[in-house]
Amino acid sequence: MQRLFTGLQPSGALHIGNYFGALKPAVEMCREYDGLVMIADYHALTSLKNPDALRRNILGVVKDYMAAGLDPAHTILFKQSDVPEHTELAWIFQCLVTVPFLELSHAYKDKVAKGLEANAGLFAYPMLMAADILLYDTDVVPVGEDQRQHLEYAREAAAKFNNAFGETFKEPKEKILKSIAVVPGIDGKKMSKSYGNTIPLFATKDEIAKLVMSIITDSKAESPVNVYSIHALFRTREELSTLYTENKGKYKVLKEALIDDIEALIAPMRAKRDAISDEDAKRIIKEGGEKARERASKKIADVRTKVGVSV
Ligand code: ADP
Ligand code: TRP
Repeated sequence: MQRLFTGLQPSGALHIGNYFGALKPAVEMCREYDGLVMIADYHALTSLKNPDALRRNILGVVKDYMAAGLDPAHTILFKQSDVPEHTELAWIFQCLVTVPFLELSHAYKDKVAKGLEANAGLFAYPMLMAADILLYDTDVVPVGEDQRQHLEYAREAAAKFNNAFGETFKEPKEKILKSIAVVPGIDGKKMSKSYGNTIPLFATKDEIAKLVMSIITDSKAESPVNVYSIHALFRTREELSTLYTENKGKYKVLKEALIDDIEALIAPMRAKRDAISDEDAKRIIKEGGEKARERASKKIADVRTKVGVSV
């Protein structure tokens, strides 16, 4: 079975764009692979300096994945900080790459341009991500388009190490998740937490209803485009064609239909999520961390011997 590795920063509540664009396809892929899903808490520390929020977000991500159908008996779900081999290998990679090479990172430049502090952790971010992936002889990494360059960095780190110390790491391939187009937000722009236009995945029915009712519609148009494009995630084109033709101009009816469709998807997931206690979530990642560490420690032993720190 091929090995899959993916990760997600615990940086806040997920929205339906994250669900359709990342969570759902990753959970589906995991069923076909020997999979590891990692909560990138040390990556999150490059920007999040609030311990209570970080703790809450970590447990939240565990529950999100479980609610979306991840089976922890089949897929290892763990957090980065529980496997110190990640930061150890990241250091070794940092000693192999140059500052100008890391300066080419779009993600780094974008984040600094947006006003994030240019801390050294943010700068070295791609080497920690390379370590995450390479420690497990990963074949495939499902990620969003924005992560493509990070995969190039990971392959480069593997090649640099292999050249310097002999064949050790497998070069992984990205699997860019673009099963569906970009999910639009309530204002028609890309749904993103940085635009404040999201429909949260695990909001209450009332919160969802309020947000859907606030979707911006053009009063002159026959069909409300912003409602339709979110609706297209939930129903086939044929179903929507009937619904939107029968209710031409009746924006309220169409929005109510969308609320019902969102609720039909989310209600069972919400119930599943609510049934998972913090204690359950902690136990799941603790067990996942132990399994991941068992694999990672074998790889790092080989790395230590090769670089010469094991005497
Ligand atoms: P945000 O833009 O809200 O900050 P993130 O950058 O944290 O979202 O996204 C995490 C993952 O969710 C991304 O890798 C991307 O694949 C997916 N994603 C985010 N927003 C959307 C969207 N509007 N449509 C589809 N996928 C999305
Ligand atoms: N950088 C990824 C993101 O922000 C999260 C991540 C960390 C990751 N390590 C990873 C993704 C390893 C895939 C593989 O979305």
